[in-house]
Amino acid sequence: MKSTNIKKYTYGNPVDTNAVIYKIIEEKTDFPVGTISHSEDLEGNLLSFSWNYTMSNHDMIFGLGENVRGINKRGFKYTSWCTDTPNHTETSESLYGAHNFFIISGKKTFGLFFDTASKISFDFGWTDSDKLSVYSENTGIAVYFITAETGHHDTSDAVNIVRQFRTIIGQSYIPPFWAFGFQQSRWGYKTEKDIQTVVQNYQKLNIPIDGVCLDIDYMDEYEDFTVDKKKFPDLKKLSDTMKKEGIHLIPIIDAGVKVKKNYRVYEEGIKNHYFCKKADGKEYTAGVWPGRSHFPDFLNSDARKWFGLQYKTLTDLGIEGFWNDMNEPAMFYSDESLQKSFATLKTFENKKLDINSFFQFSSVSGSTTNLLSDYKLFYHSIQKTDGSIQNISHDKVHNIFGSFMTQAASEGFKSFAPEKRFLLYSRSSCIGSHRYGGIWTGDNRSWWSHLKMELQMLPALNMCGFLYSGADIGGFGDNTSRDLLLRWIALGVFTPLMRNHSASGTRKQEFYQFGHPEDFKGIIELRYRLLPFIYSEFIKAVFNNTMLFRPLAFDYPKDYRACNIEDQLMFSDSIMIAPVYEQNALGRYVYLPEDMVQVVWNNGEVVQQTLQQKGDHFIEVPLTQIIFYIKPEKIIPLCPKALHTKDIRMDTFEFLGIPSKDASYSLYKDDGYTTDIHLDGRITKLTF
Ligand code: GLC
Repeated sequence: MKSTNIKKYTYGNPVDTNAVIYKIIEEKTDFPVGTISHSEDLEGNLLSFSWNYTMSNHDMIFGLGENVRGINKRGFKYTSWCTDTPNHTETSESLYGAHNFFIISGKKTFGLFFDTASKISFDFGWTDSDKLSVYSENTGIAVYFITAETGHHDTSDAVNIVRQFRTIIGQSYIPPFWAFGFQQSRWGYKTEKDIQTVVQNYQKLNIPIDGVCLDIDYMDEYEDFTVDKKKFPDLKKLSDTMKKEGIHLIPIIDAGVKVKKNYRVYEEGIKNHYFCKKADGKEYTAGVWPGRSHFPDFLNSDARKWFGLQYKTLTDLGIEGFWNDMNEPAMFYSDESLQKSFATLKTFENKKLDINSFFQFSSVSGSTTNLLSDYKLFYHSIQKTDGSIQNISHDKVHNIFGSFMTQAASEGFKSFAPEKRFLLYSRSSCIGSHRYGGIWTGDNRSWWSHLKMELQMLPALNMCGFLYSGADIGGFGDNTSRDLLLRWIALGVFTPLMRNHSASGTRKQEFYQFGHPEDFKGIIELRYRLLPFIYSEFIKAVFNNTMLFRPLAFDYPKDYRACNIEDQLMFSDSIMIAPVYEQNALGRYVYLPEDMVQVVWNNGEVVQQTLQQKGDHFIEVPLTQIIFYIKPEKIIPLCPKALHTKDIRMDTFEFLGIPSKDASYSLYKDDGYTTDIHLDGRITKLTF
């Protein structure tokens, strides 16, 4: 691809992350901004790499996908190192994904993508408030430097830079239409009966729903691609019956394969050398849900193909959606770390434990999880384009492991059902896997701060190509509260993945567990009435390489106030959302960057639409309400109420907004499953 605005510079020997799909000619000149320093070993591997840049006072930083803190990422440091981190707080530097793209916007505006499979750190003015530095080592890096095209028609340079970046990383994943419906999940549904009870409870209350997730308990001893026949005697029958009622079952698949004689997947993996091995050629063993397990080598194309085909055991039972989990990979222990830990524990025996030794003792058993020393012990065999095999230790390519698991599943679907879209979302991810599946943002907690964090993360995920994404609504860990759940689904109405999920042992958080479930119903109804609009906007964002969620700074770059807004988002090119994210808040302040139509949705209906003036407003938002804003001249179609996506009618609409006479809306329609997706010929113009 020829572009004068995208420049590529390579340092060391990068492993192919499969993030960029266009070949971009490498520059031989010096890096255009800041200072790069790097050193390589004799084989050309990076010993160190750093890029340093001095920021101007008002420079802002947007991007980095799945990470903590604000929309403007300046002032903190982050490390891409895919990590199972259920207790993350605002000081956590790494979450489940590695999304190394960001834009510096200010005196000079440009985007940077650090394409590497290895660990990489970003210090955005944390050590020194005007210094930005990026640091990495190990394999190698391709750095893409992107500036805005001159004379572009986008609302801002940032939008234009994202568009170019999204073009080179390729089209985002599109799930089937039903996957935009509401999904209920909980780690704790153990049997067929449990699933039926959940569905019946939703049906009794007429709360719209389209999917129920099967967490690890559906499997036989947590073995991937098996079903526990005692708990689920006939999964095909269950899945078929459910589908007739408009409900899809969505089973989990874990990265670790149980070590067990006569378990087919294990035996096949061993026979064909599909699992990651240690330097001595023996399979590497780590403890995950099933106990001792091996990790498929997703970076090896044969192993990837084999693993992808395994999904067919479940699709043959009528399953049309999956979530891939524990694929950072998360490990509780390795044979090595466990042995070491037991040996250390022994040294405490018969000792009088004092204040220091007691705490050392108590930390030993917890010290075996996700160790870098363990990640260094196993290897991947990557087939290179020239046919040779590259053996590389996991720690050097850690950030692409989960991403390649997503690719494995997606390639599997493509090979055995090329004409059908499947639902697929993963916990771990790297830019590149956005073409193969969506993501949920991993284990969070029932904290108000995590609701706000999701709001702030969404635009950054979109910048990196992850459009089908969302957080565990209500919070995964800890006990949720009714008001937190209500406020969280009010944001969830707009996220393409809308799933209520919670951990075993926490307070149950299906909507019917709370008083006045009709309040939840009223909110979910807005989601379903907006679905033709949300689906259309999603497809357009995929094809036009735009973001569904944007910071106000991207749409109003000259409005200093708007640029600083951290708790409102633009959604599509028509809507601004302003969720409430604090407990007991009567409402909140909203800043309108221009005159907009305020829509008040209450108890399942629009109760008010008024034109509000640019500026600051305090709005009262009771728990039963969602207030959002429509830009002037825009109209939003609402379809009739439906309980499942299969019943959604796309032939009759009401409209929101206060439009002029000739306002119209471009609706995208397809059968919800086809892989032959295009805008041409699929758009219907709806007029007011
Ligand atoms: C992991 C997942 C979580 C799931 C649990 C049990 O923690 O992130 O969503 O419920 O494992 O499978």
